[in-house]
Amino acid sequence: MNINIGNFKIIITENYEEMSKKASDMVISQVIIKPDSNLGLATGGTPVGMYKEIIRNYELDRVDFSKVKSFNLDEYYPISRDNNQSYTYYMNTNLFNHINILKENIHIPNSETNNVIEECENYDKMMEDCGGIDLQILGIGNNGHIGFNEPDTYFEARTHLADLNKETIEANSRYFEKKEDVPKKALSMGIGSIMKAKKIVLLASGESKAKAVEKMIFGKIEPGVPASILQLHEDVIIILDKEAASLIINKK
Ligand code: PGA
Repeated sequence: MNINIGNFKIIITENYEEMSKKASDMVISQVIIKPDSNLGLATGGTPVGMYKEIIRNYELDRVDFSKVKSFNLDEYYPISRDNNQSYTYYMNTNLFNHINILKENIHIPNSETNNVIEECENYDKMMEDCGGIDLQILGIGNNGHIGFNEPDTYFEARTHLADLNKETIEANSRYFEKKEDVPKKALSMGIGSIMKAKKIVLLASGESKAKAVEKMIFGKIEPGVPASILQLHEDVIIILDKEAASLIINKK
């Protein structure tokens, strides 16, 4: 089912697999139409199925990533890039090792830097110098965050060192052995950086995201719900499974 609410184009799918396929189709068509696209990529549990589907299409020779540049949304800080909890490791294992993107075209905030300010400024500059992000993939946190822009982050913020809040540490602890192991900080594109993307595709799956999705779409635009700022972006497609859409289906 497709619905439009405000600026949002919303696609409600039957399940996680269909959500992942639709999202993969959007990435693939972006790269076919503009082979030198700049892709903004996300990590977390939600896009894993989309990456699998992209790899499947790549193996069928339907898409070529040799001219694509990628910029990841965020990375824990500090963390060794070899650590299997780093987003560098995640991206290599879930996507980059399986497609023909060039190493020099991959950008992930440097989690090993001693100079955070310089790293963040460079990151924004690199995105600008290559013409900006053509297509940005986003997930959404249970608390409405995008990237690691937690509630009450300035909407203007560019790439910066962010503190993870309690809810995010709790949510991310499912990927770690112990909650104490979850990093407390991350380098993250800011809302200001994300809003510069020409097109945004946001994915959400599961009931735990339903409240955040409802607030993003129908709520007041406020820093307390970082994703609510997307109401002001002109080209956002939201792809949901039924569970994540459960609170908006009867409201439209
Ligand atoms: P998840 O994270 O995909 O692991 O649920 C999404 C997010 O926190 O942005």
